[in-house]
Amino acid sequence: MKNENKVYNVALLPGDGIGPAIINATTKVIDKVSNEYGFKVISKTALIGGAAIDKVGVPLPDETVKICKASDAVLMGAVGGTKWDNLAGEMRPEKGILGIRHELGLFANLRPATVYKSLKNASPLKDYILDGGVDIMVIRELTGGIYFGKRGSQHTDGECFSAYDTEEYSVPEIERIARVAFNVARGRKKKVCSVDKANVLDSSMLWRNTVIKVSKEFQDVDLSHMYVDNAAMQLIRNPGQFDTILTNNIFGDILSDEASQITGSIGMLPSASLGSTKLGLYEPIHGSAPDIAHLKIANPIATILSAAMMLRYSLNEVEAAVKIENAVIKFLDVGYRTADIAVNNQKYLTTDETSERIIELL
Ligand code: IPM
Ligand code: MN
Repeated sequence: MKNENKVYNVALLPGDGIGPAIINATTKVIDKVSNEYGFKVISKTALIGGAAIDKVGVPLPDETVKICKASDAVLMGAVGGTKWDNLAGEMRPEKGILGIRHELGLFANLRPATVYKSLKNASPLKDYILDGGVDIMVIRELTGGIYFGKRGSQHTDGECFSAYDTEEYSVPEIERIARVAFNVARGRKKKVCSVDKANVLDSSMLWRNTVIKVSKEFQDVDLSHMYVDNAAMQLIRNPGQFDTILTNNIFGDILSDEASQITGSIGMLPSASLGSTKLGLYEPIHGSAPDIAHLKIANPIATILSAAMMLRYSLNEVEAAVKIENAVIKFLDVGYRTADIAVNNQKYLTTDETSERIIELL
């Protein structure tokens, strides 16, 4: 359906390594669908991560925060690289991502991990484990817990001899992420598995009790609980048992990487970071891959699928989102491959060729 008057402002944060290449490949796909569906995307590019450190001396310039806050959505590439590895904590490129999530109040991170039928052979798991299908949505709390908690270190003679970080969650923080998970599960198989370490941690005990309390508002959704160590094992043993996984910041960081590998390549997986308004941040879950940055072979699919999530959650252009997702499935079904998902010497496409083929298949 054409709707001629819709104009959206999107902030682009290419970042480091393969970031600029995958963002560039993705904007071409966005241009194509916006033409077809009659909306306009006005993009502004801003600095983040190592690129920002090099140009203006900080990983998250105020100007970038301003541009993002004035946008309908933010599309990010990736940050980090060996060049900045030795910088102190506050100056690391990663602080750019943590900072922008915090500044925009993006407390909910949605990370889908789906095994595409035509990509089964790229998964490290055996066929019989994947046979029932794998379609998991990890809902990770994104602005609390140990990544943002009190921290410190003690020094003698200039040498650090102890350091600590703290995991702390308040009831409202847990309630709001739990509601996101239950709502997302409603649009899926209506199953939430809340992952914690409630046999050891007080913060997890509070997490579990609060999730149980919130679940009363969602009687139609089935709730189960799992300790994180068991969850790490079950993801490999029987990933098909999971639908929606709800967990804290650090467990979600780790489990979503694990879940992604089940699908064959982290290069395929998008993510959405949402808050209490429509403004969201969308990024591939892989990193900046500095080792392949100059080779032009980075897989842009995770970013292209992140753009689809952006169209769905922030811009309300659901048909255009579905169109992109279907084009990616066709791309794989036809047999096209990128370097990360090619097996047994299959031929593979470059970053730009991949976006060109996907555009043809739209
Ligand atoms: C991720 C990344 C980030 C995180 C880092 C780069 C701060 O690993 O998006 O998962 O831990 O959240
Ligand atoms: Mn991570």
